[in-house]
Amino acid sequence: MSGAPQRVVATAPGKINLSLRVGAADERGYHALATVFQAVDLLETVEARLPQVPGALTLTVDSRVRGDVPVDATNLALRAAALLRAETGTTQGAALHITKRVPVAGGMGGGSADAAAALVALNRLWQLGLSDRELMLLGAGLGADVPFAVLGGTALGTGNGDQLQRVPAPAPLTWLLCAPGGHLATPEVFRAFDALAAQADAQPPRTPRADQHQLAALAAGDREAIARSLANELHEPAVHLRPDLQEILSALREHGALGAIVSGSGPTLAALVRDAQHGEEVSARVREDRGDLECTLTRSSPYGARIVAVD
Ligand code: C5P
Repeated sequence: MSGAPQRVVATAPGKINLSLRVGAADERGYHALATVFQAVDLLETVEARLPQVPGALTLTVDSRVRGDVPVDATNLALRAAALLRAETGTTQGAALHITKRVPVAGGMGGGSADAAAALVALNRLWQLGLSDRELMLLGAGLGADVPFAVLGGTALGTGNGDQLQRVPAPAPLTWLLCAPGGHLATPEVFRAFDALAAQADAQPPRTPRADQHQLAALAAGDREAIARSLANELHEPAVHLRPDLQEILSALREHGALGAIVSGSGPTLAALVRDAQHGEEVSARVREDRGDLECTLTRSSPYGARIVAVD
């Protein structure tokens, strides 16, 4: 490929937290975490074109999911573009177009995936030559889940979830994701976590420890053991704010899911199933009672943000 690209398309995955342990908050209010992230094959797509007006930065969104997506400067893809310009000194512009498939404010890192895909696409469009590692470091300034959306696969996240280490997870996993409608704001869920801990007089650890049983189950590719290890310490605060989540989780388990958890800060629920057919069966049964649930089948993905087209 010769010459400067006019158009670059990148995708980045949504994520599930297979385990999420929460520790104390720092002075900025960010909590220490020990979490196992898994990328899924539910992708955000960001197309970046050179703009008609040189230097202009614009954004359009085509959303395939419920919920409002900001198209102003607070959008994480636009913030990623502004950050890249500030860091590298480039004055180039871009017309960004996002196709959203990850639930909005659903606990699956959709906004972070937009930022990750925008970083990767613009790095190529603007010929900046930054490494993935550099993009991950920059991305951490935009949101705690952005570095993982760049990396993808399955990884242990410590610090605020931004210190990443890949972990072996050879067995492909099939997930049934159910979005019950409505949003949960991540800061609100963490505040509820703090309030519930204070009420119980519990001291969250300064440095939570990774779930070694889960890491061993992933390395062994043992689906039953992985299902048993699914655990999210944001479950209680999320259910406190959205009591209906508990019923849906129980229904997913009763109807045969190997395991089911709140994804991240919710309200999306992630159920581990044996395969696509099993997932369809569980989905049909759960939706008999809750027809408003939007359920999608997806699989674990080894990929992070990556370029899928360059013209
Ligand atoms: O970094 P991100 O924008 O995803 O985080 C959104 C909010 O979630 C933060 O402003 C903070 O309130 C909360 N959060 C936290 N601890 C983390 C990650 C996020 O308290 N490790």
